[in-house]
Amino acid sequence: MHRERIRHPGLQSKVTTALEASRHIRDGMTVGMSGFTRAGEAKAVPLALAARAKEEPLKITLITGASLGNDLDKTLAEAHVLARRMPFQSDPALRKLINEGEVMFVDQHLSETVELLRTHQIGPVDVAVIEAVAITENGGIVPTTSVGNSASFAILAEKVIVEINLEQSDVLEGLHDIYIPKRRPYREPIPVVTPESRVGVPYIDIPPEKIVAIVVTTKLDSSSTVLPPDDETRAIASHLSDFLQNEVARGRLTNTLQPLQAGIGSIANAVLHGFIETPFHDLTMYSEVLQDSTFDLFDAGKLRFASGSSITLSRECYGRVLPRLGDYKSRLILRPQEVSNHPEIIRRLGIIAINTALEVDIYGNINSTHVGGTHMMNGIGGSGDFARNAYLSVFVTKSIAKGGAVSSVVPFASHVDHTEHDVDIIVTEAGLADLRGLAPRERAREIIDHCAHASYRDALDDYFDRALKRGGQTPHVIEEALGWHARLREKGTMLAG
Ligand code: COA
Repeated sequence: MHRERIRHPGLQSKVTTALEASRHIRDGMTVGMSGFTRAGEAKAVPLALAARAKEEPLKITLITGASLGNDLDKTLAEAHVLARRMPFQSDPALRKLINEGEVMFVDQHLSETVELLRTHQIGPVDVAVIEAVAITENGGIVPTTSVGNSASFAILAEKVIVEINLEQSDVLEGLHDIYIPKRRPYREPIPVVTPESRVGVPYIDIPPEKIVAIVVTTKLDSSSTVLPPDDETRAIASHLSDFLQNEVARGRLTNTLQPLQAGIGSIANAVLHGFIETPFHDLTMYSEVLQDSTFDLFDAGKLRFASGSSITLSRECYGRVLPRLGDYKSRLILRPQEVSNHPEIIRRLGIIAINTALEVDIYGNINSTHVGGTHMMNGIGGSGDFARNAYLSVFVTKSIAKGGAVSSVVPFASHVDHTEHDVDIIVTEAGLADLRGLAPRERAREIIDHCAHASYRDALDDYFDRALKRGGQTPHVIEEALGWHARLREKGTMLAG
């Protein structure tokens, strides 16, 4: 059956085992692998690398689109294959090695990685390993459930290994739109003017002789770990939808809104799911990861079109969507992540960006990545690409975490991924803060009054009152600013007393 999927006659002879293919990767190399938020990752060669690392010295720099599925980041981390990892991960075992300092993790805006590679500011990529549905007659690689950085990895790498996954539906062929920006000074505007714009070709175009090995696999993508909506995320969705309806009433938006982006994780997924219960219709998405909520909105007749870089679904949603992929195909595009996350396009389309914060401070600075200011969670992902350039930059979070021991609204963010300048709206289950046009002192009142949990509001009021007495554009009791985090570290709670 794999012969039908390898349509270039000269490449049939390249089929080999994962172990043999992996031998193109040697100690110290930089490897670019397909895979974006658990979708479309190369599945066999990484396991061969982990096995080889038990017998021989083997440490690599691994660059992907984003996180890998099938526990591959865990397997590679535990086999100590990873010297450096970029631009995103979300695996607990890898996270542990990053926080212990064994793996050097470069937490990057997802739109930027291939730009840095292309201009030789990082890299070079020695070997690319790309999961594919098929290889076309002229040697083009047809990706599977993600595009991520795969196209540029294949273009820039010296050698390319392709994993043909027979279990990935051949209906995926035709879904992708591969556009590669020209080198400067010949760079032109990327001609995406609506989420539906098709501006490239449906395969990765490389000289077939670069493909040095083909491995045939049958393992499916692993399902996402998003949790279903709960009372808090339903409340967040409801506050946001009330706010957007008010924007419609004021004539700033219509009921079709503007193209939506929703970040990864349970909260953003639940918030988007909540749009089913709104008067909004004919919605479009210009996003990065298409999660369950995208297909829930399609099925509810709310969503007209979705553009992303990967499809990552829960087990239940896979079961529902995959057999009917053909029905959705005309309403979907998967693009390289430098296009799905491109600042130029995000600004042009006027995107409503909804991303998740770990913590927000009273002035609107956002920490999306570092627990307690020091320990990496997942990474910034595409949140910065979108937040900085969106028409409306929304951040959502529950007002407390860890059973109330942590307040997500703090006097001073212990790490800043998105500055006060890039944040328009903050929503928790307690309410919504509209920060547009407000100075820092006004923002603090809005955030404390509307977003803080009742159990922390008095303490935030007290901090802010005392800070105001010190004066400043952004008043702080500077020696106390991180006191809540220090208390959490020492006493296991941010609550005083
Ligand atoms: N301090 C410590 N831990 C916190 C916290 C805080 N202020 N706020 C949340 N957490 C913990 C939660 O308790 C939970 O822990 P658990 O896994 O042990 O249960 C975990 O962080 C995830 O939080 P949750 O509330 O379930 O949210 P989520 O699944 O929606 O994920 C992020 C939230 C911020 C981790 C996730 O959205 C992320 O990694 N974002 C950065 C990348 C990004 O935004 N990409 C978007 C572009 S597509």
